[in-house]
Amino acid sequence: MYFALFALMGLASAKMCVNNTVTVNLSANNVNFNISAPKSQYEVTMMVQFLARQGQNATDRLASGFHSVNGTYTISTQFCRPDNMTGSNPVVQVLTHGVGFDKTYWDLSYDNYNYSYVNQATDTYGYCTLSYDRLGVGNSSKGEPINEIQLNLEVEALNALTSLLRTGSFPGVNHTFTTVLHAGHSFGSELTYALVNTYPDASNGIALTGFSTNSSFMSQFTQAANFANANVNQPLRFGNYTLADIQSLLFKDITNPLFNYIAGITSLPPSQNLPNGYLVASNAAAIQALFFAPPFFDYTGLLPLAEETKQAATIGELLTTATLAPTNSFTGPVLVITGDQDTPFCGGNCLATGDPMVPSVISTTQKSFPNVPAGNFLAYVQPNTGHALNFHYNATGAYSVINSFFGRTVAMPSR
Ligand SMILES: *[C@@H]1O[C@H](CO)[C@@H](O)[C@H](O)[C@H]1NC(C)=O
Ligand SMILES: *[C@@H]1O[C@H](CO)[C@@H](O)[C@H](O)[C@H]1NC(C)=O
Ligand SMILES: *[C@@H]1O[C@H](CO)[C@@H](O)[C@H](O)[C@H]1NC(C)=O
Ligand SMILES: *[C@@H]1O[C@H](CO)[C@@H](O)[C@H](O)[C@H]1NC(C)=O
Ligand SMILES: *[C@@H]1O[C@H](CO)[C@@H](O)[C@H](O)[C@H]1NC(C)=O
Ligand SMILES: *[C@@H]1O[C@H](CO)[C@@H](O)[C@H](O)[C@H]1NC(C)=O
Ligand SMILES: *[C@@H]1O[C@H](CO)[C@@H](O)[C@H](O)[C@H]1NC(C)=O
Ligand SMILES: *[C@@H]1O[C@H](CO)[C@@H](O)[C@H](O)[C@H]1NC(C)=O
Ligand SMILES: *[C@@H]1O[C@H](CO)[C@@H](O)[C@H](O)[C@H]1NC(C)=O
Ligand SMILES: *[C@@H]1O[C@H](CO)[C@@H](O)[C@H](O)[C@H]1NC(C)=O
Ligand SMILES: *[C@@H]1O[C@H](CO)[C@@H](O)[C@H](O)[C@H]1NC(C)=O
Ligand SMILES: *[C@@H]1O[C@H](CO)[C@@H](O)[C@H](O)[C@H]1NC(C)=O
Repeated sequence: MYFALFALMGLASAKMCVNNTVTVNLSANNVNFNISAPKSQYEVTMMVQFLARQGQNATDRLASGFHSVNGTYTISTQFCRPDNMTGSNPVVQVLTHGVGFDKTYWDLSYDNYNYSYVNQATDTYGYCTLSYDRLGVGNSSKGEPINEIQLNLEVEALNALTSLLRTGSFPGVNHTFTTVLHAGHSFGSELTYALVNTYPDASNGIALTGFSTNSSFMSQFTQAANFANANVNQPLRFGNYTLADIQSLLFKDITNPLFNYIAGITSLPPSQNLPNGYLVASNAAAIQALFFAPPFFDYTGLLPLAEETKQAATIGELLTTATLAPTNSFTGPVLVITGDQDTPFCGGNCLATGDPMVPSVISTTQKSFPNVPAGNFLAYVQPNTGHALNFHYNATGAYSVINSFFGRTVAMPSR
């Protein structure tokens, strides 16, 4: 038994992880948008103004039918399990990150992994985890940003990863999982929501973090991001520059002392070389407005980290967030957990509903799950927390709510 083998190896860390780049063939029915990628900041901002305009459905106005997308894609993954795991029936959680992050959202190394969801899920609760870079992000396949990298294709990717776990064919993971849970953050929650609506048998239970079905406040997010084309906002990470390009720019004027700053640098990490239409929040101030609730986070450490490691979103993703089905066919347990000061899904205050009969903005999400028994649905407002739950001081408080919910409603893995 592979898990017992690893236990014998006596690893010191709390979790044992394997990184794998998985190749999948995907086929999806994507929305067709007859627009071209913005070529300047003027055009990016004009697009955002159109998306955020009240009184219209921007997605509907730009959509013209559907088209089939199919191809071979690579997905960068990290599978982790408790290092002392001996149980014969392990349970895996598939973790899907949101806009602006990559798979490390779930396993932050900052502060010696004090903020790591993966650490708590594996070490404290005994689950296995699979986190991955979504298509278009980090070390996974990139694609055309308007009509290819969209919600529907990414749902197919999530389903494909899930199938590999269920059939025991996930590379490097010598186990056939009969119980698979799914947790998402923000856009990752939307993918999880869509997954269990389209493929209700894919999951035994879901946790939607940084989520609600109330779209009234999404324009606050779209506006506050002050989006820019990623390739010009952080050219060394997302653009099309070689070190030689940078050197020739800096050395052009020999009286310019800037070259001192790169003296001795002989290589740069590979840039993502993204085309126009991959957008990032413009700076740390925008990231604070989108994801953080002051003063409940380490703004000298985690805010710079979020800016330095930020990832891009495609226009196709931003346009297809509005295409979620209002009613979900899923019958399994559903947890919605969102920070009380969440911007995109609560407008900065999940408790201000204006209706004493409605306890929170996120509570109305229950209406979208008519087939889930009341005892298996929980809407939980996490205190002193903004949209990116995992980056707040009390992140582990939220992790306990999620893992306890899974343990109560589905299964706590045997040790
Ligand atoms: C696996 O990837 C993570 C980033 O997601 C990295 O921190 C870690 O060092 C990698 N592990 C190995 C063994 O390469
Ligand atoms: C994907 O499709 C290609 C071409 O049809 C095929 O050669 C390959 O084996 C498939 N890969 C997987 C992982 O199914
Ligand atoms: C797409 O938009 C362009 C420019 O607005 C227009 O010329 C073209 O006819 C449109 N194509 C379709 C298929 O709608
Ligand atoms: C907006 O338009 C999309 C695409 O037509 C549709 O799926 C969605 O339901 C619409 N949203 C609302 C709130 O009407
Ligand atoms: C994949 O795309 C090709 C051409 O784009 C099309 O002929 C084929 O039917 C598609 N396959 C699927 C399974 O959608
Ligand atoms: C992690 O958090 C604990 C409890 O808050 C704290 O005692 C510890 O110093 C933190 N670890 C690091 C490396 O800062
Ligand atoms: C595994 O490690 C965790 C954390 O150190 C501990 O709480 C648990 O009791 C251990 N389980 C076994 C079977 O040793
Ligand atoms: C992507 O790959 C690079 C180079 O191998 C590595 O340094 C980085 O940690 C990876 N990022 C993620 C999010 O896995
Ligand atoms: C999975 O099993 C195969 C065959 O027994 C073995 O070669 C491989 O090392 C195992 N993988 C891991 C990560 O243990
Ligand atoms: C990046 O530069 C290379 C070499 O000049 C070029 O072949 C490639 O098309 C460029 N990519 C983009 C996205 O501009
Ligand atoms: C969203 O929440 C606000 C505040 O509770 C409420 O006024 C509004 O009607 C909700 N919108 C939708 C679409 O549910
Ligand atoms: C941390 O989160 C947990 C779970 O929501 C909650 O019970 C606890 O009161 C929170 N602690 C603080 C200091 O906000």
